[in-house]
Amino acid sequence: VRIVSVVGARPQFVKLAPIAAAVAAAGHEHVIVHTGQHYDRDLSEVFFSGLGIPEPDEHLAVGSGGHGAQTGAMLAGLEPVLTRHEPDWVLVYGDTNSTIAGALCAVKLHLPVAHLEAGLRSFNRRMPEEHNRVLTDHAADLLLAPTPQAVEHLRNEGLGERTVLVGDVMVDACLRARETARAAGLGGVELEGLGVDLGSPADSAPSYLLATIHRAENTDDPKRLKAVLDALADLPLPVVLLAHPRLRARAAEYGIELARGAVRPGTPLPYAQMIAAIDGAAGVVTDSGGLQKEAYLLGRPCTTVRTETEWPETLVDGWNVLAEPTAYDFGALAARPAPATAVGAPFGDGKTAERVVSELAARVH
Ligand code: UD1
Repeated sequence: VRIVSVVGARPQFVKLAPIAAAVAAAGHEHVIVHTGQHYDRDLSEVFFSGLGIPEPDEHLAVGSGGHGAQTGAMLAGLEPVLTRHEPDWVLVYGDTNSTIAGALCAVKLHLPVAHLEAGLRSFNRRMPEEHNRVLTDHAADLLLAPTPQAVEHLRNEGLGERTVLVGDVMVDACLRARETARAAGLGGVELEGLGVDLGSPADSAPSYLLATIHRAENTDDPKRLKAVLDALADLPLPVVLLAHPRLRARAAEYGIELARGAVRPGTPLPYAQMIAAIDGAAGVVTDSGGLQKEAYLLGRPCTTVRTETEWPETLVDGWNVLAEPTAYDFGALAARPAPATAVGAPFGDGKTAERVVSELAARVH
């Protein structure tokens, strides 16, 4: 069986890691195509090396641009590559421009395409990711859903027959990284590289909050971005803000200083260090989809700076709280008790990658 994975952005590299391992273990052929959507070392290479993913077989080096230009360049680049490799399956991941480009290119070439993390919905039509998800699900031949809720969304859209519940591959990635991080003694020590005094690591009480902000809806409107950063600055614990290049670029453009009040800006972390940083934090403030769930899996309270989430399961019992920076006192986050860890239901058992590979192999004729 020959599987071509199309990836391009950081969260896709994280999902690719357990899949690449499972494809190799099953003895199938795996071609990795990197669109080049994320090209900074911190967002790309570091993830391949850190997660033990083989080097991409093909690199399209598409880079940044408007949505149309970026997605169009991917389509044009992917066509000859997918044609040449004659895959049994094209596998696309998540909700980025690389996802929709991979799916669209494959269906136009009559190549079977499977969507990993199918069926997530924010129902916010202003998010580019929402269109990427919906269109990819409707184009794909096989929908690999992470949760029963995702299955229900797909059924409601008439896609039930193409849907299989496989669990969430992020559980596989997160648990593996936590093992690596704990074995390597990562955590407070590693974070000191940020130039932040985080107090003593390990057994002492968590002394910092971890934050990431990168969604267009938060970064691309100066008023909104200022409100978010003001709220972070007022928090009662040091806030380690791991700044995505989009955040840095917009803040600089609008003349907003990142390092203010409680905020200690740092650069994005490699995955195992990131998991260690969440594990060691008093809580998380984010607008990332993946980080909300990692906080949940690691038993850390999370405040999500958005009006909706694709992962409503994390909202149960107030583990994760949706917050407008203007209407919610982020400070309450620090006082919230950490929930008990919830590995397992509803996100799966950490064996999703193997299940994905068997589902793909079973459908090759
Ligand atoms: C993309 C995904 C988002 C995902 C996120 C993870 C889309 C529409 N969005 O958002 O779903 O959660 O990745 O990080 O696909 N930039 C760099 N270096 C890089 C990459 C980006 O400087 O390596 C800057 C560029 O100025 C670029 C901007 O960040 O214009 C935005 O990058 P883009 O790839 O459009 O989307 P992300 O915001 O990273």
